[in-house]
Amino acid sequence: MAKTKVVVTRQLIDEAQKILDEKKNDLEIVQWNSEKPCDRSWLLENAKGATGILVMLSDQVNEELLEAAGDELKVIASFSVGTDHVERDALKKRNIRLGYTPTCLTDAVADLTIMLILMAQRRGGESMAMVNKGEWPQMPWHPLLMTGPQIRGATVGFLGFGRIAQASLQRLLPFGIKRAIYLTSKPGQPVKEDHFGLIKSASIPIEPAKSADELASESDVVIVGCSLTPSTKHLVGADFFKKMKKLAVVVNIARGPVIDTDALVKALDEGQIFGAGLDVIENEPNIQADHPILKQPRCVLVPHIGSATIETREQMATESVKNLLAGLTGKAMVNELDL
Ligand code: DGY
Repeated sequence: MAKTKVVVTRQLIDEAQKILDEKKNDLEIVQWNSEKPCDRSWLLENAKGATGILVMLSDQVNEELLEAAGDELKVIASFSVGTDHVERDALKKRNIRLGYTPTCLTDAVADLTIMLILMAQRRGGESMAMVNKGEWPQMPWHPLLMTGPQIRGATVGFLGFGRIAQASLQRLLPFGIKRAIYLTSKPGQPVKEDHFGLIKSASIPIEPAKSADELASESDVVIVGCSLTPSTKHLVGADFFKKMKKLAVVVNIARGPVIDTDALVKALDEGQIFGAGLDVIENEPNIQADHPILKQPRCVLVPHIGSATIETREQMATESVKNLLAGLTGKAMVNELDL
């Protein structure tokens, strides 16, 4: 009997590879054998006849790929929480299931959110650059050297208030923030999921904002944690920045295009906001050394490392493999997205 074909678009951490390899007797495993992103033409060629494909967030899952795979395809397992690289309608109409990893990376991304807030407020990037350039001797300790806004007493505004946003809020409460507001696709309405029981038990107000304008104008820290959709693309743009407080910072741990980068550069140039901390940016990873955002001393940009703890990446890998295998056999996945 012919083996069931699966395609995996990256090398996997040992633990996850072991789970996959244990099925070698039943599976034909075709795997991209490099640490670099999978070549699109390789994927299109090898997808033919596959029953399952395990993809990274850098692989577009669209009509082109599904057509190339053909009628056998039953499951896509994405090594990510975000699924904006997947055309959900295209999967739905073919009854293809979608697995993803929404829970295991929450802590890692929430931790990075706090790092980026503090880096942006406390001028982490700018301070390190000053020392690294050997400028410290010319700028010795001074009462106003590298001063920035303090987190205690801040109003924190969340664009998107899902699991990662709420885990970030959980970490922010001990810092003594004053208030949290959030905007979801249902402005003004309280969210249903209280993932960590915070909303019920909070010692500070946690309230839905009625509009992006309200969130922009009232927040000292804006955290972008929403999915990328046509309605969130460039939600944080010129109008949003104009309404922000001059001492406010914006942090993006979601997807780059939610922030209009040109507008962010202008807002930083003109002092409309104090700083920014970005894990993601439009057109990543194609950010060359002469990109205007890199000339902004008050912007910290890291290369999409939100979930990059050893423990989390291990869990994401094993969960993705389990989702893939469950999808092949019609079993329950660890996490399946309802299409
Ligand atoms: C994801 O998995 O979608 C995240 O962007 C990883 O940090």
